[in-house]
Amino acid sequence: MKLQYLAHACFMITTDAKTKIVIDPWLDQNPLAPIKSKDIKADYIILSHAHGDHCGDTLKITHPETTIIAVSELASYFKTQAVKTHAMQIGGSFEFEFGTAKLVSAQHGSMTFDGRYGGLAAGIILEIGGITLYHMGDTGLFGDLKLIGEMYEIDYLMIPIGGNYTMGPQDAALAAKWLEPRLAIPMHFNTFPQIRQNPLDFYDLCEAEGVAVKILEPGEELLLKAREE
Ligand code: NI
Ligand code: MN
Repeated sequence: MKLQYLAHACFMITTDAKTKIVIDPWLDQNPLAPIKSKDIKADYIILSHAHGDHCGDTLKITHPETTIIAVSELASYFKTQAVKTHAMQIGGSFEFEFGTAKLVSAQHGSMTFDGRYGGLAAGIILEIGGITLYHMGDTGLFGDLKLIGEMYEIDYLMIPIGGNYTMGPQDAALAAKWLEPRLAIPMHFNTFPQIRQNPLDFYDLCEAEGVAVKILEPGEELLLKAREE
């Protein structure tokens, strides 16, 4: 299984069965994106919330069998004849063909670009082939992250560090300490001026807490491995 960073909050997971799962597709207007929407088709698209920088290219990367997974309000926004949608809510999990997806809290807003309510913003926990991934979406720091850290053995954590709209490096390092992932991967930084950060600041703060960090360049792929018992 591999994870590719497509810049900002967009990641593509390719499972061992070659299923392509894209989280938060936003490529065409993203100055850091290594590819454009025409270059990929996803079997599953999972959306953390309704903001354009997380779901702007959703319908452009679908094929007739694609399933869009999101909270009910956002799933219904994307409901068309052309795609399948799977509505969920915070706290719920569902076993898909690729593995299990659960939506958890994120402290953030969620409105579509045309002003419709997008439901609650979410984080996404995926359990695929014995590997646990947690994409935090856009979020500020909140105490229940400690609970999530206790409940899950997180292997790969995709964590926003850009500040302004989400946690900055300091808060993100505290969240990473609580969540104890095997590897933390910073996201949602340097895409636009308001979220300019040096990811090495996050790296250093995490290192002091004993949390390993991998800073992925846009387009870079990471081979995902299950924990050794
Ligand atoms: Ni947002
Ligand atoms: Mn965002």
